[in-house]
Amino acid sequence: MEFKRNIIITGGAGFIGSHVVRLFVRKYPDYRIINVDKLTYAGNLANLRDVEGCPNYKFVKADICDFAMMCSLMASENVDGIIHLAAESHVDRSIRDPFTFARTNVMGTLSLLEAARNHWESLPGKYDGKLFYHISTDEVYGALEITDPEGVAPPYSTKASGSHHVAYGSRFFTEEMKYSPHSPYSASKASSDHFVRAFHDTYGMPVVVTNCSNNYGPYQFPEKLIPLFVNNIRNRRPLPVYGRGENVRDWLYVEDHARAIDLIFHKGRIAETYNIGGFNEWKNIDLVRVLIRTVDRLLGRSEDEDSDLITFVEDRKGHDLRYAIDSTKLQRELGWEPSLQFEEGLLKTVRWYLDNQDWLDNVTSGEYQNYYREMYRQP
Ligand code: NAD
Ligand code: TYD
Repeated sequence: MEFKRNIIITGGAGFIGSHVVRLFVRKYPDYRIINVDKLTYAGNLANLRDVEGCPNYKFVKADICDFAMMCSLMASENVDGIIHLAAESHVDRSIRDPFTFARTNVMGTLSLLEAARNHWESLPGKYDGKLFYHISTDEVYGALEITDPEGVAPPYSTKASGSHHVAYGSRFFTEEMKYSPHSPYSASKASSDHFVRAFHDTYGMPVVVTNCSNNYGPYQFPEKLIPLFVNNIRNRRPLPVYGRGENVRDWLYVEDHARAIDLIFHKGRIAETYNIGGFNEWKNIDLVRVLIRTVDRLLGRSEDEDSDLITFVEDRKGHDLRYAIDSTKLQRELGWEPSLQFEEGLLKTVRWYLDNQDWLDNVTSGEYQNYYREMYRQP
């Protein structure tokens, strides 16, 4: 069968990538979706069981740093679009092992860009109808302050975006903001963003970059705050809250991110940057309390029975204080809005982890066990 488009999605076996692959495979039966993933500790084909038999889906196990392989895939699959999510994504790991982050996030992105350029420039129509879509993070902008603009203690309500939301400061990350990454993870993502834009400015490659806030939802690797803590509450293990839990993160349900990616892939303006976020800021300690309440309620335990699991531990090195995305541009230009209220999304998410203990046990076996023990110095 001839497909209308042949699209590589990198990192499709990871958390966000699996939701993007699922959305594209189901919504566009006339597109061929090629999931290119190395299957690191964070990649798991079990995340895609429900689409693996679809005729428009193909999995290729490959490292994006393997330039020869990327060149050969571009040609053999006649690729006209790339949605690039493959990355090392965990800040704590980047603090321990920055080389791996530079290798995958910087050199891997460059390898993919060069492979795309070689192939597309060899075609008669060159870059016509082609797109390199790079998925990045709000962490490249650095950290925002927690401020008290009018003598009112944060959080306070704002209408900065036109819609009502809770904020911990008067400034937000906008697309014009200067990059100021602090962690090796965000430095590597910032560097890859620059390479993508350089390929547009230098070679005329059609690119688009999006910077999204913290995602949550099913299939997130349980080293990240929400799945880690749900699993620990369930198993009555300590909840390691960094510092005093005062840091603020802006949470978006992963399927809303995938919907934004779909919209921007099809309708976004070339060479533009779009910020994606749900205007949904939470102080870590408040979020942890909601998680405890939700898990305890769903497991039929008495309310807040597990509050004493909260354990304040040494703060993360260089811990960014506050992230808050202004996604007004995306709302205004393309009409995107988050579909879920946080309470609804969080309930769905917690329920999913409690109902999918096999998935959790499976991904937390082997290598991850050693990492976790070492990280939290547990026996
Ligand atoms: P993840 O760690 O869950 O998944 C990453 C995937 O990339 C895994 O399947 C892994 O096997 C694959 N991968 C890693 N190195 C590879 C390589 N060298 N070659 C091929 N595949 C490789 O990450 P995620 O949370 O789903 O994040 C996906 C993307 O979205 C990343 O680029 C990340 O920077 C970005 N992002 C994440 C968030 C978030 O909250 N998770 C927020 C904004 C942006
Ligand atoms: P995380 O999920 O690692 O995402 P990111 O660092 O990309 O924002 O962490 C979210 C917040 O939770 C961050 O402020 C660090 C904090 N955190 C803890 O307090 N304890 C933990 O065990 C983890 C993993 C994170």
